[in-house]
Amino acid sequence: MQIHDTIAGLRAARGKAGRVALVPTMGNLHEGHIALMTQARAHADQVIATIFVNRLQFRPGEDFEKYPRTFEADCERLVAAGVDHLFAPTEAEMYPQPQTYQVEPPPEQANILDGEFRPGHFRGVATVVMKLFQIARPDVALFGKKDYQQLMVIRNMVSEFNLPIEIVGGETVRAADGLALSSRNGYLSAAERAEAPRLYRVLTKVVEAVRAGDRGRAVLEQAAMAELQASGWAPDYVALRKKLDLQLPSAHDSGLVVLAAARLGSTRLIDNLEV
Ligand code: PAJ
Repeated sequence: MQIHDTIAGLRAARGKAGRVALVPTMGNLHEGHIALMTQARAHADQVIATIFVNRLQFRPGEDFEKYPRTFEADCERLVAAGVDHLFAPTEAEMYPQPQTYQVEPPPEQANILDGEFRPGHFRGVATVVMKLFQIARPDVALFGKKDYQQLMVIRNMVSEFNLPIEIVGGETVRAADGLALSSRNGYLSAAERAEAPRLYRVLTKVVEAVRAGDRGRAVLEQAAMAELQASGWAPDYVALRKKLDLQLPSAHDSGLVVLAAARLGSTRLIDNLEV
């Protein structure tokens, strides 16, 4: 695997022949990331992974400074996954001057759900992903369904800007007890880690109820929030939405997804399940 910390270096090394797949990450890689790398291999002749903790998508007071940085271990995992190129730029390489031009997703996509609780987050994500697309020029890019709203925003950005890039969504990889793998799981104490799979169980209950024909959306959401609260969580939202645009479903809509974000101690976890 070749490691590049400059845009020029990546561009010079990236072969011109065959299909190129891009898998952007912020590092601290786990099996969820690696599953995307493996899928990328099946879609392309060359796989480019990126590691960059993007300050633009963190708000002041969020975990930008303490976000886990584990470069050596990450490289080993990427080599084992057969990744060809790793682009791991410095902040000065990505943002040599303040990023004054940014990609602003529409409020109805970016200010709901996670965007309501993390204002500006999806602008930061869309902006860095647009830059990574221009830098790596992939034919296909892979993103996890774990970050469902992020995947939607990127799909719509690619569509509206006519970018010639296929977007592939990867299924969420979970621990044996159901907890979705996340770099932020490392912040959990042992007791919190034992409690954390409740988020998945609560989502599973909502999905089962909807599948059984229960369309009392608000009641289901509130019951899920109440169960989390009763177990010491501080939920931001549990929301049953349409898969395609994450807007509120009407009574007869199919193609639904239930999404949640909740804090356990000082750690904020997100998860979702398609119905
Ligand atoms: P990061 O959180 O590192 O995630 C990188 C990619 O891995 C994302 O597409 C995410 O959805 C996916 N992923 C994370 N956990 C997963 C899991 N358990 N199963 C499957 N896929 C999983 O998401 C970001 O970084 C950033 O916002 C980024 C897109 C890199 C822009 O900075």
